[in-house]
Amino acid sequence: MKRAYIETYGCQMNISDSELMHGILAEQGYTPADKPEDADVILVNTCAIRDHAEQRVIGRVGQLQQIRRDNPDVVIGVTGCMAQRMGESLLGKAGGVDMVMGPDAYRQLPDKLAEVVTRRGPAAVKLAPATQAATIAARGLTVLGFDPHENYEGVTAKRISSVSAWVPIQRGCNYRCTYCIVPYVRGDEKNRDSQAILDEVRALAADGVPEVTLLGQTVNSYEHGGWNVPRLLREVARVPGIRRVRFTSPHPNDFTRELVEVMAAEPTVCKQLHLPVQAGHDRTLKRMLRRYTVAEYMEKIEWVREAMPGIALSTDIIVGFPGETDEEYQATLDLVRAVRFDDAFLYKYSERDGTPATRLPRDQFVPDEVGQARLAGLIAVHRRIQAEMYQAEVGRTVEVLVEKEGRRGGVQGRTESNKVVTFEAPAELIGYFVDVTLVSTTGATFTGELIPALAAA
Ligand code: 5AD
Ligand code: SF4
Repeated sequence: MKRAYIETYGCQMNISDSELMHGILAEQGYTPADKPEDADVILVNTCAIRDHAEQRVIGRVGQLQQIRRDNPDVVIGVTGCMAQRMGESLLGKAGGVDMVMGPDAYRQLPDKLAEVVTRRGPAAVKLAPATQAATIAARGLTVLGFDPHENYEGVTAKRISSVSAWVPIQRGCNYRCTYCIVPYVRGDEKNRDSQAILDEVRALAADGVPEVTLLGQTVNSYEHGGWNVPRLLREVARVPGIRRVRFTSPHPNDFTRELVEVMAAEPTVCKQLHLPVQAGHDRTLKRMLRRYTVAEYMEKIEWVREAMPGIALSTDIIVGFPGETDEEYQATLDLVRAVRFDDAFLYKYSERDGTPATRLPRDQFVPDEVGQARLAGLIAVHRRIQAEMYQAEVGRTVEVLVEKEGRRGGVQGRTESNKVVTFEAPAELIGYFVDVTLVSTTGATFTGELIPALAAA
């Protein structure tokens, strides 16, 4: 019996891919290991979206090399977006990698892992540190490239949570936002068959999973055999047993009134929306090739708030994009002040080789200190707003789906609006909906108090 440990970096799509990999490996008799020291195979499933994400992985793979000392037969693989981006060059990095595999090749995992072992022969030799990376690289295996038909149909994911499930409905991306590496490491958009998705959701519901999140890089551009996202979302929302449905991340450009109507009409669709805006000035949006204007984005926010008053909104923003003037940056702050997001993921632009933005005039690139200062300024503006909004919710009683044990005791769950709440309650409540009074907030999460009379509901 072989044991596999998969460590995941990056977005929900990667978490979902790791669950697929565990599923593929399970079919060949692998079981998940709890920690890397216990594993025969260690896979680091990586993100390439920013340089920082890649540096962390290099550091981590370097650390994992220590495991070879006690277990020279261990296989260390790097999968995912960074694997696809760096390819063979990754084999000799961070002390040596045995296998590099891109996101479309996971079906080959068991075969390729076996091949790695055969190729390197008896590995039980202690290598001198100086030659280790080169020796490993020379025997290493690279499995890259796109498969336009690979949707992992028929693979049963081995899911981490029995409470909330990621359901990928789309892979890849057809947009070409000029800062973004995703299309080059995940390929063009491919959408899954709607019936396969619905079957998967029905199976999850039958297993007692009450919450699903539909996943795609631009999830609302989904289109397959006459099905679009509004139709799919409506059907998923109506699967008996499913009590909460979310989807992420939509692109503003594909965000339609029809989708708003379904969100508003279906009680199980959570009144929560993550709608990445990226910037608050039309000139920046144009250089980013986002294909919408600030006015168009704001109009969509209005549709949503009109149809669903109180809906929780979140976004992604990049500051310091090449050519961003102080005026453009101020416009982003204005947008954040105008919308008042419940949550925001805020980033400083990170240059990615091969993306169109790298070809913008060099003299327009924003100096790092300026980018850093802008990010700090944006975080401060958003945090103040977020703290105000969270404070206003203290005292309310809300329904929480209990997801897991809390880090400091008790349990942790989420509200319909996707807010994290921790509170004292027995772990037996995991998987249940309970009513919780929000008693305090850190500004980004809540502490609550369980209402015992309703706990059994
Ligand atoms: N630099 C900084 N942030 C980026 N993102 C994507 N590419 C880059 C980049 N090159 C951000 C976007 C996206 C989120 C997932 O990551 O805001 O929505
Ligand atoms: Fe990247 Fe733009 Fe595609 Fe999102 S829509 S994955 S930001 S290219």
